[in-house]
Amino acid sequence: NGKYTVSFIRGDGIGIEISEAVDDIYKAAGVPIIWENVSVAPYINKQGKQSIPDEAIESIRKNTVALKGPLATPIGKGHVSLNLTLRRTFSLFANVRPCKSLEGYKTPYDNVDTVLIRENTEGEYSGIEHEVVDGVVQSIKLITLEASERVARYAFHHAEQNKRNRVTAVHKANIMKMSDGMFLHACRQVAKEYPNIQYDEDLLDRACLRIVQDPAPYADRVMVMPNLYGDILSDMCAGLIGGLGLTPSGNIGKDASIFEAVHGSGPDIAGQNKANPTALLLSSIMMLRHMRLFDHADKIESAIFRAIAEGDRTGDLGGKLGTREFTKAVIKRL
Ligand code: IPM
Ligand code: MN
Repeated sequence: NGKYTVSFIRGDGIGIEISEAVDDIYKAAGVPIIWENVSVAPYINKQGKQSIPDEAIESIRKNTVALKGPLATPIGKGHVSLNLTLRRTFSLFANVRPCKSLEGYKTPYDNVDTVLIRENTEGEYSGIEHEVVDGVVQSIKLITLEASERVARYAFHHAEQNKRNRVTAVHKANIMKMSDGMFLHACRQVAKEYPNIQYDEDLLDRACLRIVQDPAPYADRVMVMPNLYGDILSDMCAGLIGGLGLTPSGNIGKDASIFEAVHGSGPDIAGQNKANPTALLLSSIMMLRHMRLFDHADKIESAIFRAIAEGDRTGDLGGKLGTREFTKAVIKRL
């Protein structure tokens, strides 16, 4: 029937409202996608381990593409983050986080155009922690050559595909000489396979300083880094262009890819028609391009950017519109 089936995890909190915005806009734009709604509510399986429903896993495995709203992650206790469970279950090894100034939305920066690629399966996110003795806890930062090479290769490939002529590896190998040292080694090896792309390295702290002082030099390159650094640096970059209401991401794997906003479930504003659906919408546009539905992607993206430029904005951008009103403003411009 010429339609694509895509798994849709609507998520918690504001996930419900911003997912409705996607529904309405996709319907109005005539996007040839049938959503397969799946729940990833955790349960304890027969082996006594936390697990997510088989139906969700099968749906994503079958469709190979999913859109995902934010899932609440408990702090300090409770279940293992479902976000991480999904990333691990499908070996979504590269988390691609572009961050670009919106032409029609003024911030102190008008020239941000960064692409950050975050290793997405290990590092401090390995979740291996134990109390050695009373009052002493060890948290393992796991770095493997295999995962480092895999994400490095993806970063160079992405740079080549997107006409960015430099890859910068971001690290703290001055301190973590072995783990980050090996990450750098992997990047240097892969760099040899891409003679047309320049390669350099920058310390994480110095990169933060440079980006907030002048993001312009980052517009021609891709940054690649271990997991936790990418988590932090991507929020920092989002801050330069107007916040987490605007930044999309794609979790890329060999057998499946899951597209999601960089932000969380916003419990403080959930259910109040306040959330900005732009980040999830732009994530869905990354997804459309991944599926090579370029015309639909361009049409929806341009409607979103024009709505914001012409002053139809949600509260996070200083506007007066609710989630539903902003959605209508986008539909009007399709
Ligand atoms: C992100 C989020 C997640 C992370 C949380 C929700 C587990 O902050 O996607 O950046 O830390 O990776
Ligand atoms: Mn984060």
